[in-house]
Amino acid sequence: MYKQNIFDKGQTGPIDSIFKDETVFYQSYFPLEIKARDNEIKELSYCLNPLTEGNRARNVIIYGPPGTGKTLVSSFVLKQLQEYTQKVSVLYINAMEDNTRFAVYSKILTTQLSIPIPRRGLGVDELLNRLKEGLSKSSKLPILVIDEVDKFSKQEISAFFYELSRTELNHRFFTLILITNHKEFLAELDPRAQSTLFLSEIEFKRYSPKELKEILAERIDYGLLKNAISQDLVGYITGYSAKNGGDARVAIDLLYKSAKLAEKQGLCKIQKEMIIQSSKLIDSVKLIEKLSYITALDKEILSNIPEQGIESGELYKTLASKEADRTIRRHLGNLENLGLIATIDYKGKKGKTRLISLTFTKELLK
Ligand SMILES: Nc1ncnc2c1ncn2[C@@H]1O[C@H](COP(=O)(O)OP(=O)(O)OP(=O)(O)O)[C@@H](O)[C@H]1O
Ligand SMILES: [Mg+2]
Repeated sequence: MYKQNIFDKGQTGPIDSIFKDETVFYQSYFPLEIKARDNEIKELSYCLNPLTEGNRARNVIIYGPPGTGKTLVSSFVLKQLQEYTQKVSVLYINAMEDNTRFAVYSKILTTQLSIPIPRRGLGVDELLNRLKEGLSKSSKLPILVIDEVDKFSKQEISAFFYELSRTELNHRFFTLILITNHKEFLAELDPRAQSTLFLSEIEFKRYSPKELKEILAERIDYGLLKNAISQDLVGYITGYSAKNGGDARVAIDLLYKSAKLAEKQGLCKIQKEMIIQSSKLIDSVKLIEKLSYITALDKEILSNIPEQGIESGELYKTLASKEADRTIRRHLGNLENLGLIATIDYKGKKGKTRLISLTFTKELLK
């Protein structure tokens, strides 16, 4: 039996914590300052500017690798726009959650146009009619943000874009802001849908170590006790994160996990070993995450790559019955971007070729 309740810190005094405010490390935290994204903020606000005069704006696609501030910058710019003008209404949709026309139209009707819909019995076309009706009555210009848009149902996405960009009443159109890691999915849309979209593109590039350092500064200042981490170790974290996709989420997470380890050991200063240990954990979590969201064809491709690697021609031959070479090539490009495969120039039996190999142990595919 314990002499005192394990939560009671009365006799030993409060446990020293390395944290000043842990919430700055949470996903939900909105930074006071957005660093290194002035151009992207300017570009997006430029695209949306016509709305402040009540005019139609171009649709926008924001693309770039994970953790490069796409969601953050869009919500910041849209917040500013809504503070500036009453003329717009903004609806944020994440296609991971709502990935059908039915789901999205229902959400627009109920949350953006405040039109109740019966729980059952309505078809998609009827929803679309009500949406048009609602749009003609509302005085606001609707903006629809579709985050992770590549997760939208493949069967429906062409019809969805086509319908939405043509839905207009009294000169009020939807402004679409699409956010994605890979804009390649657009190539799979049918030409009709592609041509109605008229997208302005804004690319978000990976962060450099210097930019990651600027981003971390706020979290360090507000989140940790003074001197909780040395400049050297901040450099270690930003270097690691720059190599792993230039991803701000990785940098923040690595700092947070390392600080948690220090706290657990009752220390007020982060040590290098703690960062190394946390980075190993992040590596394996990231890998499993990536493997969970790739497509069935991606998995098929990966499972056909043996541990020792394979010449590209051989791989195309093995997969010839499944898909056209062109499609396989596109998927290979994507898998390489994700860091799941590596390719090197190689002198094969029939001359110069490329050797493709996995960057992880095949066990993880199961
Ligand atoms: N320029 C920045 N300044 C401050 N914090 C940033 C910046 N960019 C990203 N962050 C922080 O990094 C994290 C990831 O950013 P965000 O969610 O916007 O990335 P994303 O590009 O949308 O990633 P994904 O493609 O995975 O959705 C968030 O916690 C965000 O607050
Ligand atoms: Mg995002």
